Amino acid sequence: MSSRASSHVGSHAWDVLVVGGGIIGLTAAWRALEAGASVVVLDPSPGDGATHAAAGMLAPVMEAGFGEEAQARLGTASLALWPQFADALERAAGLPPGAVGLDTAGTLALAYDGDDLVELRRTLALHRELGLGSVEITPAEARRREPGVGPRVAGAAWVPGDHQVDPRAVHAALAVAAARATLVPRAAMSLTWADGAVVGALDDAGTAYPAGTVVLAAGHASAALFAGAPTRPVPGTTLRLDAAADQSPAVVVRGTVQGRPVYAVPRRVRPDGRRELVVGATSDEREDDHLTRAGDVFALLRDVRALLPELDDAVLLEAVTRSRPGSPDNAPLLGWAADGLYLATGHYRNGILLTPLTAAAVDEALGGAGRPADGPGGGPPGGPEVRAAVEAAARYADPRRFADAYSSTPGTTPRTERGGTA
Ligand code: GLY
Repeated sequence: MSSRASSHVGSHAWDVLVVGGGIIGLTAAWRALEAGASVVVLDPSPGDGATHAAAGMLAPVMEAGFGEEAQARLGTASLALWPQFADALERAAGLPPGAVGLDTAGTLALAYDGDDLVELRRTLALHRELGLGSVEITPAEARRREPGVGPRVAGAAWVPGDHQVDPRAVHAALAVAAARATLVPRAAMSLTWADGAVVGALDDAGTAYPAGTVVLAAGHASAALFAGAPTRPVPGTTLRLDAAADQSPAVVVRGTVQGRPVYAVPRRVRPDGRRELVVGATSDEREDDHLTRAGDVFALLRDVRALLPELDDAVLLEAVTRSRPGSPDNAPLLGWAADGLYLATGHYRNGILLTPLTAAAVDEALGGAGRPADGPGGGPPGGPEVRAAVEAAARYADPRRFADAYSSTPGTTPRTERGGTA
C-alpha cells in the first residue's frame, strides 16, 4: 500500500472502503485485494447503475470529440490495456479465455443521408488530424462487410480500432474476482472526516465503516457524497434484441440517421444460431429515474432499422435506462482528492473503455502496480506503456481540477446527502 493508504492500516476496520459496486467500483475492489488490502464495498444493488445499460463499445476513435484530443489519447491507451485486463480478469475469476466477450473485430460507421455523410466526413477528418485510424468506404463495400446494411445508406467508414466487450459479463467476472471483499448491500449516506482526511463512511442505516482509504466510485451519485466530485446523471436508454445470426451484423455498427446517433453491438453467436444485440443509446440531461420513455424506444428502433432493416424480425428482450456519470468537462475524475479519498468516477460515456486504465491507476495508488500478469493472484501488468498512460491520466483526470470551484473541497465539512449506486 502507498504511504497515503498504509498510514491508516492497523487503526481501522478496513484498509479500503469502495463506495459503488459497478464495473469501476468492483475493479477498484479487485485491485485493492490484489494489493493485499482488506476491502469492503457499499452498494445496495451492485452493477445496476451505468454498468447495467452499457453496450460495451470500446470506441476511442468514434467517440473522439472535437477539442477532446487528450481524452481520445486516454481512451486509446486504455483500449491497448484491454486484452491483458480481460485475460487477467478471466483467470482471476476462473473463467475460460474469451468469457468476458472482448471482440476486436472493428466497427462499421454508417451515414444515413447526405447531411449525415457530411458529418461523417468531418469526423474522419478529425481522425486524420489526431492520427486515429478510420477509412471511408462506399455503401457497397459496407454491404459486402455487413449484408444487412440497408439500401438507403449514403456513406460509410471502416474503423478497425474500435472494439467491444460485454459489460455484464465483465461485471459478473469482477464479482468473482473480488469475492474476498465484503459486500454490504446498503447505500453510502456520507463520508466520515477527521482532521481534514476521509476516514470512512456511514451507510443509510447509520452504520460506520472506518477505513484507511475510501475509493469513491459511485458514478453519477458521487457528487452527493463529495462536492469535489461534481458528477451529474446523463441518462441513456439501451435495448437488448435477440436476432438470428444471419439477420444481424457480426461487428459493431454505428451511425447517424438524420443527425441522430445510433449503434448496434452484437454479441457472440450462441449454439442456437442466434445472438444478442445491444441497441443504443439516448442521452439526456435530466434526473436519474431508471424510467424508459416510450419515445426513446421508438426512436432507437426507428433509427437502427433505417441502417439495419433486417432487425425487424429480432425479438425485443429488454429496454433499460441508467445514467452515465458526467462531469463538468466530461472527463473522468481519477486520483486522490483528499487524504484518504481516492476518486474513480465521472467516466461519462467511456466507463467500460477506461476500466483497465482505472485498474492501473488504482494499482499505482494502492501499491499493486507492476504485479505479474501471470503470477498467482496477478492482474493487469505494469510496464512503461501502463505507467505512461497512468501518468497521462494523473494529469488529465486529476480530480483536484475541480477543487477551487466547489465549497466542499478536501478537508471541509462533509456533506450529508444520500449517496447511490455506481
Ligand atoms: N459509450 C456509449 C454511450 O455512452 O452511449
